[in-house]
Amino acid sequence: MGEENKPQAVGQDLRELAMRDAQGAVRLAVAFIGVSEGLFEQLNRLPGAGADELAAAAGRDLGYVRRWCDAAYAFELLDEAQAGFRLTALGRAFLPEAPGTLMPFAVQDVLSAHMAERAAGLMRTGERPGEAVLAERASILPWFGPMLEAQFGPVFERTIMPGLKVYEEAALRHGLAVDLGCGNGWYLLRLAARFPQLRCLGVDGFEENIRQASKRAQALGVADRVHFRTGDIYSFENDEKADIIALNRALHHVWDEKARVFAILKNHLKPKGSAVIWEPHWPHDRHLLRQPTHRMMAFQNLTEHIQGNHFLMPADIAGAFTDAGLVPTIHSFLDGREAVVTGTPL
Ligand SMILES: C[S@@+](CC[C@H](N)C(=O)[O-])C[C@H]1O[C@@H](n2cnc3c(N)ncnc32)[C@H](O)[C@@H]1O
Repeated sequence: MGEENKPQAVGQDLRELAMRDAQGAVRLAVAFIGVSEGLFEQLNRLPGAGADELAAAAGRDLGYVRRWCDAAYAFELLDEAQAGFRLTALGRAFLPEAPGTLMPFAVQDVLSAHMAERAAGLMRTGERPGEAVLAERASILPWFGPMLEAQFGPVFERTIMPGLKVYEEAALRHGLAVDLGCGNGWYLLRLAARFPQLRCLGVDGFEENIRQASKRAQALGVADRVHFRTGDIYSFENDEKADIIALNRALHHVWDEKARVFAILKNHLKPKGSAVIWEPHWPHDRHLLRQPTHRMMAFQNLTEHIQGNHFLMPADIAGAFTDAGLVPTIHSFLDGREAVVTGTPL
């Protein structure tokens, strides 16, 4: 081994960096348990509860809850109160219902650890087992929909919905909005709330999503005009043509057969309709991935690889619209991190 390749003693600054990172990751892991097992929610309802009262209220094992309380206390998610605990401001920020909730960071953290472990093993053979890998952890599964909703619902409501004319135009025609790969339905439910004249249809391949979406439509009193059904994007059929066909973070899942998907879009749009495709904007310039706002996207693209997918550049999406005989327009949001590409019939 040459002198220059000899491992150097690790400096204190790098050790401190790794320690801060490790503690941050573990703090989020502890928070994930609080979110997924309803412990934050119960403690918010019962401030001052001890581990035994908390375990009973959440319906979880006392031994585990007691150890979790110590860990959550250590990471400043809980404070001592009376004989028990109460949420700190940081702990309260992970409550899934809190506006601007930090819940997605906790879910993302544990999901990332799972996907990193799978990527490390799969890299040995090159195998790409698909989306099933995402579903391997039962405690994470129900949180996909809420995580994506908390991450992207606010930007849709505040920036994208008011920024694109297509929604209002469709509503003026009392039109139909379709969402392919609709997740837990948050996008259509927000559209339906903003535009009472719109009718909506969401399709997703994952039954848990459709169950959550249909339940929300019922609870919000819009189930008469917002429908959800389990189905495959590749075999989408509907008697009525649509004013809007949206795909949100779904196109990269079906990109391998893009010609087929874009033909479906074209065949199911009304003459004045629009396909509205929202994807993360994979940057042309790798240097952008260093920005804190883009880093997670780079890791996610590795996890997409496991699933047989990869992130797209807006120009690729626009090219696929052109190839299908639709006219593309690229819209950029969140400082260029998110792209919405619309496609309209000629
Ligand atoms: C990243 S998630 C996005 C979900 C939702 N659109 C959102 O923005 O929250 C991708 C979704 O596409 C769905 N999906 C992927 N391929 C599909 C297919 N061939 N047919 C139906 N749904 C599919 C998945 O089940 C998943 O819910």
